[in-house]
Amino acid sequence: MINSTGFQRFGDKQNSAFFEEYLQRLLDERDRCGLTDMIGGIEALMITVEPGNSLEYVSELSLMTPYHYLVTLDSPKHLTHVLRIDMNSPDILLREVKDPDYSDIFRNLNDMYPIGEHRHHSRYLGEILLATDRHEVVAQQQAREFRFFSIGQLAELDLPINVSISRPSAYTQNVVGYMERADNEIRVYQHGDSVILGPMQAAYERGKEMQERLAINDLILPIDHLATRVYSQNREAALLEYLALSSYYYWGSYDIKDQNSSTNVTKNVRHAPESASPAKVFTASNLPYCVNHLDRLPSPTETFVRNYGPRLHHIALAVKDGERSGKEHIDFVVAAIAAQGKGFLLDTIGSREEGLKQIFSAASAYSSLILEYVQRFGDFQGFFTHDNVAMLTFAASLADDVPPY
Ligand SMILES: [Fe+2]
Repeated sequence: MINSTGFQRFGDKQNSAFFEEYLQRLLDERDRCGLTDMIGGIEALMITVEPGNSLEYVSELSLMTPYHYLVTLDSPKHLTHVLRIDMNSPDILLREVKDPDYSDIFRNLNDMYPIGEHRHHSRYLGEILLATDRHEVVAQQQAREFRFFSIGQLAELDLPINVSISRPSAYTQNVVGYMERADNEIRVYQHGDSVILGPMQAAYERGKEMQERLAINDLILPIDHLATRVYSQNREAALLEYLALSSYYYWGSYDIKDQNSSTNVTKNVRHAPESASPAKVFTASNLPYCVNHLDRLPSPTETFVRNYGPRLHHIALAVKDGERSGKEHIDFVVAAIAAQGKGFLLDTIGSREEGLKQIFSAASAYSSLILEYVQRFGDFQGFFTHDNVAMLTFAASLADDVPPY
């Protein structure tokens, strides 16, 4: 049996007594009832974009990430493009809505927020986790009061039928799915007709040719972490919820005082590298917006959540350690991509001495998601530095659209 509570704790953010007590109880119970053993790592991420936007987004991801276009699943309401690095890293299921007037629960979530509503369909839906026994995992989670879409609802939402999917979280608005796969099997999504679309293949090949020409194709590595922003008061509940639904453990929380925010990290319990199952990070303001007029502190995380709703803020990709043409790899990669017209919110920050360098791209025009690049130097084991996170958070806040009211 895996023990989810024996890990070293990092961080300087103080949690409530409630959190510490229930964290221990929740992980103990999860281990004891077999869920930790039955739930594996992240198999896939699901992202939805507006009608007509997936071609350009695939082209962008081909240039800026290690992902390859594999196949398109053509179903009644969506074209779902399967993007894959290999079987050692999660897939991306990129769903393009076919009809602009289409409406479902995910669109309704976007439409609740003053900036989110500008792109009705563009949102990160959540992750699909590996399960050794999908029906047993779902039955146990339902018995613990977690809610799932019924088979009929999944058909109506036009999602793969071999994946069980939770209803969106009240705290993160993300879903968690479960699918089965034997160790030696490839991932298969039972969803619509499999087709390779000529224009999509061509857009993908253009992106990859450019990546090769720029000599950055061997430098950008798989996903390192996924960062979700939540309301201040939901920080601890969002962490506990994700730990209940996954087999991750609580790594620790850092207080980013400069930005009145905290970064809260969970990692996979099997010591798999982040490339196989990325860390899940939750960011929350230290104070809710309703008291912000009293202290007038910076409040970029809470402002983002009020504008877009709780949701994924960025996908971080690792960059191979080393130098090319006299530049550290991350600077080489960023210079090459920026020369292709892609924006970045700031210069790379951090240094070899501090252990890592990071940067945020501008939010994608197609998904609204930011890409982060992170290069760790030598044997640096830390996840981030306070100063870097404060600067990244500040830079992202300057780039956020101004709400219409
Ligand atoms: Fe990050």
